[in-house]
Amino acid sequence: MAIERTFSIIKPDATRRNLTGKINAKFEEAGLRIVAQKRIRLSRAQAEGFYAVHKARPFFDGLCTFMTSGPVVVQVLEGENAIARNREIMGATNPANAAPGTIRKEFAESIEANSVHGSDAVETAREEIAYFFSGIEIVG
Ligand code: PPS
Repeated sequence: MAIERTFSIIKPDATRRNLTGKINAKFEEAGLRIVAQKRIRLSRAQAEGFYAVHKARPFFDGLCTFMTSGPVVVQVLEGENAIARNREIMGATNPANAAPGTIRKEFAESIEANSVHGSDAVETAREEIAYFFSGIEIVG
């Protein structure tokens, strides 16, 4: 299995409820290492750029409003098969469909306020990491 890096966001619903540590514990317990992390407030332009792939979707405006409504924690997670592993730990996008023990099952409020984002493929992970982090900010 390959050592991979994936991009993660702890979303405003989770930072508001002080869940950063509990979510990070889930990553670390699953063998993922947090090799970069910063707490930031996204600008509207940053949120719209990050979610540009969803620009035509009906939820785009609301998603960008939500993602700029409070602090987020952007992260790079590293480990074996990190992209798929992280998606397992997060659970389904809609918490109503998420498996027991997953972050979204335990913490998410709705399909929008679903506590975490994680990259879905190698190429998107590379792009998303580069959107927020420079090379010297990532310490493996
Ligand atoms: S899709 O259809 O597979 O592209 O969508 P998905 O990857 O599951 O979701 C993409 C992100 O959009 C958010 N989302 C929504 N927000 C608000 N309302 C609705 N109905 C909705 N559907 C999807 C979802 O939280 C995903 O956010 P990220 O940050 O990518 O996890």
